[in-house]
This record gives sequence, C-alpha cells and structure tokens, in this order.
Amino acid sequence: ADQEIYRASTYAPVNIAVIKYWGKRDTKLNLPTNSSLSVTLSQDDLRTHTTASCSPAFPADTLTLNGSPQDISGARTQACLRELRHLRQSVEEQDPNTPKLSTMKLNITSGNNFPTAAGLASSAAGFAALVRAIADLYHLPATPTELSRIARQGSGSACRSLFGGYVAWQQGTHPDGSDSLAYEVAPASHWPDMRAVILVASAEKKDVSSTAGMQQTVATSALFQHRAENVVPQRIKAMEAAVHGRDFAAFAQLTTRDSNNFHACCADTDPPIFYMNDTSRAAVRMCEAINSSAGEVVCAYTFDAGPNAVVYYLAEHEDVVAGTFKALLGGLSGWEGKRGGAVKTAESVP
Ligand code: PMV
Repeated sequence: ADQEIYRASTYAPVNIAVIKYWGKRDTKLNLPTNSSLSVTLSQDDLRTHTTASCSPAFPADTLTLNGSPQDISGARTQACLRELRHLRQSVEEQDPNTPKLSTMKLNITSGNNFPTAAGLASSAAGFAALVRAIADLYHLPATPTELSRIARQGSGSACRSLFGGYVAWQQGTHPDGSDSLAYEVAPASHWPDMRAVILVASAEKKDVSSTAGMQQTVATSALFQHRAENVVPQRIKAMEAAVHGRDFAAFAQLTTRDSNNFHACCADTDPPIFYMNDTSRAAVRMCEAINSSAGEVVCAYTFDAGPNAVVYYLAEHEDVVAGTFKALLGGLSGWEGKRGGAVKTAESVP
C-alpha cells in the first residue's frame, strides 16, 4: 500500500475573452478590476491535457509541462494546491476509511498542443486542467463554479476555462474573493455556428507578462480607470444580451471595440506596452475590408497580450472569412498556417 499510486486525467480548453480582463484589484488573490466574458474554444484544437497523481512513495510535489520540469514554488500554484488539499481534508474527515491523499505528494504532468505563453491563453487552460485533475483525483464534490474560485488564484483567466460555451467571470465585491467566480452565460449549443480562427503572427513567448502588464497599466494609465469604471460594466451587459439574442453584429462590434480599448490602455501606460505588431494590424485591416466588401459584419477580431489574432465568425461565412485569410496570408511569412481551420466552440467540458 505504501507504493500505491492514485491518478486522474483531464483536458481543459482554451478560452478567448471578448470583453477583456485587464487589471487586478488584489494581486495576491487575482481579483480583477472588472468583469470579463469569453468564448471557450474547441478542445479538439487547443487544449491542455493534465494527469495528477499522488502516492506515499513520492518525495516532493512536482509539475512537468511539455516534458520540462516547472517551478511550482510560486504563490499562485501553491495557492491552488493548498485550497485543493484543504477541500480533500474535509472529504477525509467525513469518511475516515478514505485514503489520506491530502498528505501525499503530488506529481502533475501537463501537455499543451499549442505554443505556451504566446498570447494563446495557455495559462488559462493550464490552471483549469491542473485544478480539475486534482479535484478529480481527490473526488471533491465541487461544482465548476467552486473550482473557478480556485483556478482564478492560479491565473485569472483560468476560471473561465472550467466551462464550455459563453462564460462570464464576475469581478465580485468581497475582499476575500469568495464571489469572484465564473458562470455560464450560455452553452455552446445556444449559438452552435460560432467559429474562431487563430492567426498565429508569432509563436514566440510574449515579452511583457500579463501580470507585469496589468500592474503597469493600473499604476500608470489614465485611460485605464475610465475603462474599468465606465466602459466595461455596460459592455458586459450588452455582450450578454448579444449572446442571448445571437446578434452577431452586436457581438462583433463589442468584441473589436473592447480589444482596441484594452490595447489603447496598454499604449497609454508608462512605458507603453505594444502587444500588437504590424502583422496584427494587417489582420485588423483585413477584417475591416472583409466586412465592408460583404456589406455586413461577418467577422470580429480580438487580441490578447500578444500579436496573434483570434477572428470570430459564423459558419455560414466560413468561405469569405477563413477562406480570405487563408488565401491572402497562407503564403506570407510571419503567418503560420497550421491553425487555419475553423475552431468550433466546445459544447461542454467533461
Ligand atoms: O489570466 P492572465 O493573467 O494570463 O490574464 C489574461 C489577460 C488577457 O488574456 C489579455 C485577457 C483575458 O481576459 O483573458
């Protein structure tokens, strides 16, 4: 029994915000200055796969990502492990016959099928998968919303990757973060023809981390406070309505404007932060051109803390949107064609 190994595996999908999280009001607990809203992408295309195991034979907690050992001494990872062990202790107290997994060391192995930290939301899928793999290993009776409270402490955006479809993260008001949680706005089946194509302008690691970028923005941008207080709250409501009403034109306008507002705040910090590059701006112009030649809004771009574009569109416009991007950019250097296909939104997270 001393050598017994307990194990659980899970996948978590990537989510891409259409109303961005940018700014922390509490850096320790990852509490945001504003609510955010995202679309979960298909796990077939972008996902993290994680296996968590524990055993009396393991000498230390370890984490391996894509085959390389990772430092897990950071406060974020430690917060997730501490919270999960604490919940496991309650399970063990209620059932004295259950094995004392909370006292054993954890070995976690994780793999992404996309470039890490290139603004492709790897930390979101990564922490969501880590938290759910351990929750499964521990047989915790926790709902996705409860797990979102824990995943948020690993990486803010991770709390939204515990759900499929259209997901909001409410900023909450409690100083302890107990109401800073994710919830489902609508399942993917509500708007099943939504598609996303990712244009990989660069698979390099980003140069300003989201944590550092947010800190600098909160500390120095004059536009930022206006964004958090006056811009985002209305947009969250309008975006929920656009999703509920399957109103693509409204969804698209809110998505592109919010991306531009977020990048304007980044440019407004001291020193300025530029996540978008010339290739990114070419994608913006191309979306504008596709929409004006279609005579209606058929595509919406958004950029996270990196140069890659995510373009949302409806399946009926696959040819004009994904087709145009493939035809025009496929042969150009600086663009990787490998994510050129449609990415369906995930129906649900298992
Ligand atoms: O979760 P973090 O700390 O990696 O921050 C994510 C920030 C953005 O991707 C730019 C926006 C978002 O809401 O996901």
